[in-house]
Amino acid sequence: MEEIATIAYPDGDSRILMVARKELLPSDARLTVFDGNTAPLFPDRDLECSLSLPPGETAKNWTSVERIINRALAVELERDGLIVGVGGGVVTDVTAFAASIYMRGCRLVLVPTTLLSMVDAATGGKTGFDFGGVKNLLGTFYPAHEVRICPEILETLPEREFQSGMAEVIKHALLLPEENNPLLVQIRDECEQIRARDPEALMKMIPAAVKVKADVVEADLRERGERAFLNLGHTFAHALEAATNFSRWSHGEAVAWGILRALDLGERIGITDPQWANQTRQLIASYGFDIVTPQVAPEEIKAAMSSDKKKKDGHIRFVMLKGPGQPVLQSVPESDLDAVLGIEKNLES
Ligand SMILES: NC(=O)c1ccc[n+]([C@@H]2O[C@H](COP(=O)([O-])OP(=O)(O)OC[C@H]3O[C@@H](n4cnc5c(N)ncnc54)[C@H](O)[C@@H]3O)[C@@H](O)[C@H]2O)c1
Repeated sequence: MEEIATIAYPDGDSRILMVARKELLPSDARLTVFDGNTAPLFPDRDLECSLSLPPGETAKNWTSVERIINRALAVELERDGLIVGVGGGVVTDVTAFAASIYMRGCRLVLVPTTLLSMVDAATGGKTGFDFGGVKNLLGTFYPAHEVRICPEILETLPEREFQSGMAEVIKHALLLPEENNPLLVQIRDECEQIRARDPEALMKMIPAAVKVKADVVEADLRERGERAFLNLGHTFAHALEAATNFSRWSHGEAVAWGILRALDLGERIGITDPQWANQTRQLIASYGFDIVTPQVAPEEIKAAMSSDKKKKDGHIRFVMLKGPGQPVLQSVPESDLDAVLGIEKNLES
């Protein structure tokens, strides 16, 4: 086991570890939650003490929470007992939520099995599920006591899911300053190896990307407010996903599109260096993201933005980048947002 980071929360530490594949499942788990795609990856799992949810976002609901709690009761899980969530962000979010409310919180280990959950969802303590048609409406803050990561488990991950995680890796790399940024250097120089999931490349890239999230989360605990920067591209992305009913684009595709729009916006209002913005556009394209126009009316995307949770004083604020590692969070003139979304104004009306 190799420790990537330990985040010190007021209620205890959360350790993020790189482990060998055989060390992924803790031996003292009382209940392990999988989904239909992750359970078969562990043929030796203890069937008595495991539960498999249907795969995908539609299972991120109260029914799954109830199933986990019922199973916890059935296996007589006690307050100091351990629940483990093994899967992508859906399983890790919903399992962590159940663990946070079961007997006011039991022990929790997360085993992320998608690139996105490794570099993003499993770290940082946000739990939750979708309710009333609203994504992540209900949730708690409950960091896992341990997060166990092994890139080998990504071998079976479908290509589109791997690519989706790469959008978050790119985002993390852009949040670090240019100097002393081996993650950015690697994703620029080793695109081919990374896309081929070369084990050595992943063993280098994943801990570096996780460390960015862990550092930002830790800085936020000290109330420097930096966590909002992790939303780079996400105000646009959430609006695109909502406007297309969360069905057309993967989250990562939407995030890649969102980062591109944040670059356009920053360039337009004069804070983003145009040359660097172009290099970054090329970097994103090199990972196969090609949503140039999202095939949905820009007015619908803008309408979806108006319900964004990060609004302040009625204005939507966007994370933009002056350059690598120089994020800013600010509102923008509506005319600039319209221009970036491609909303044409009829000047005569
Ligand atoms: N808590 C947070 O801070 C946070 C951050 C980002 C995203 N999220 C949440 O994460 C969720 C998205 O996570 P995701 O992209 O991992 O989606 P997901 O959990 O739906 O996983 C994607 C698909 O990959 C399958 N899968 C998982 N691991 C596999 C493997 N190793 N081999 C083969 N198939 C595998 C799953 O069964 C599923 O079909 C969203 O609900 C989002 O809200 C949470």
